[in-house]
Amino acid sequence: MDRLQIRGGRPLNGRLKVSGAKNSALKILAAALLSEGPVRVGNTPHLHDVTIMIELLGCLGVDVTVNDGGGVELHAAAIHSTRAPYELVKTMRASFLVLGPLLARFGQAEVSLPGGCAIGARPVDQHLKGLQALGAQIELDGGYVRAKSNGRLRGAPIHMDIVTVGGTENLLMAATLAEGRTTIDNAAQEPEIVDLANCLIAMGARIEGHGTSRIVIDGVEQLSGCDYSVMPDRIEAGTYLIAAAATGGSVRLSGIGPELLDATIERLEAAGAKVTSGTDWVALDMQGRRPKAVDIETRPYPGLATDMQAQFMAMDAIAEGTSRIRETIFENRFMHVQELNRLGANIELVSASTALVHGVETLSAAPVMATDLRASSSLVVAALVAEGTTVVDRIYHIDRGYETIEEKLRALGADVMRVR
Ligand code: UD1
Repeated sequence: MDRLQIRGGRPLNGRLKVSGAKNSALKILAAALLSEGPVRVGNTPHLHDVTIMIELLGCLGVDVTVNDGGGVELHAAAIHSTRAPYELVKTMRASFLVLGPLLARFGQAEVSLPGGCAIGARPVDQHLKGLQALGAQIELDGGYVRAKSNGRLRGAPIHMDIVTVGGTENLLMAATLAEGRTTIDNAAQEPEIVDLANCLIAMGARIEGHGTSRIVIDGVEQLSGCDYSVMPDRIEAGTYLIAAAATGGSVRLSGIGPELLDATIERLEAAGAKVTSGTDWVALDMQGRRPKAVDIETRPYPGLATDMQAQFMAMDAIAEGTSRIRETIFENRFMHVQELNRLGANIELVSASTALVHGVETLSAAPVMATDLRASSSLVVAALVAEGTTVVDRIYHIDRGYETIEEKLRALGADVMRVR
């Protein structure tokens, strides 16, 4: 099993190009099921999760070609199965996003209940409730969701009981081929949803209100192929900005503008970072200073992303002062606390959703274990700061979401090696 060996204590300095967004690419690839294609997707990150989605689509009968440089071409003209098997869905929750498109185009789908990062219960009730509102009959059987519709799905008003990114995306895709109008109220507003909606519009879908809490979709009879380029990964970008801040360094990221990073930049500035930006770049300079402790509370977009919580905790671990970190999106998303404490952090869990981080001057190397994707990146941030050589085990979690992380970190001057 691969591990990352990181000798800490060097500030990150340099330039980096941000990769395409994992959380957008996965849904856009799934959306290719809605049309006979071809759907050509550019700026797809080279990541384990993307490979799993491509494998899943391939096993449904989608003809997939991967080109050099992040291009993926998908033809879903000859689908021979509408069953997404447990073996593929269990490793990645986003696989569940094939349910809406399969059902909408073929009137049936059988998709295993999802797995993915072990961060809380993560049910799919909102996905299913919405599909039922669109006229689907749904049964749960042997760990699978079996969904059917008599003819086309029918557009309907849907009110989401909670804000869910995946739920909004599954229903958005399903509604594009439904008969009539669907409104999704209390929809998630994440930029990745806007990216998916824009791709669907390029395929001929009629969608308005994406990026707000009310999305209106007028179903069409069929969608066509398109060329679409995936948006930049704001979580990857935020992670490198935090790593630079924690190490007292200076980085300039290209391929992303500041608007996708508003909440993250606001917290980094509060920690004492100097942040400058242009239309497609963001730079952070910590001028060698130790960060000041900043409180963090995760929120649906435009609030601070839950996917940034662990990395901010790592920065707060070595910051000046005490900070309070509240996780409001997922239960059980503090698995990194114990590992950060092994590196010498002083983090107290005061409840299941709140941690108090008492900043220490320095961390010291220790063997640590990655537990989920973003928790793992917080260990990398901490290891970059820690004195000595830290080995982060089980980095397959990191490979799910960070393209060539060791190369990118090395380009910024870090002493990082992948070992087996
Ligand atoms: C997506 C992102 C993930 C991010 C999360 C929140 C992808 C591949 N993953 O995950 O990185 O952390 O958004 O921004 O894009 N919930 C229900 N019922 C449902 C659906 C969700 O109760 O039917 C709950 C979940 O358990 C969780 C909360 O809603 O507590 C938010 O989950 P959701 O927004 O759906 O996250 P994902 O789409 O799985």
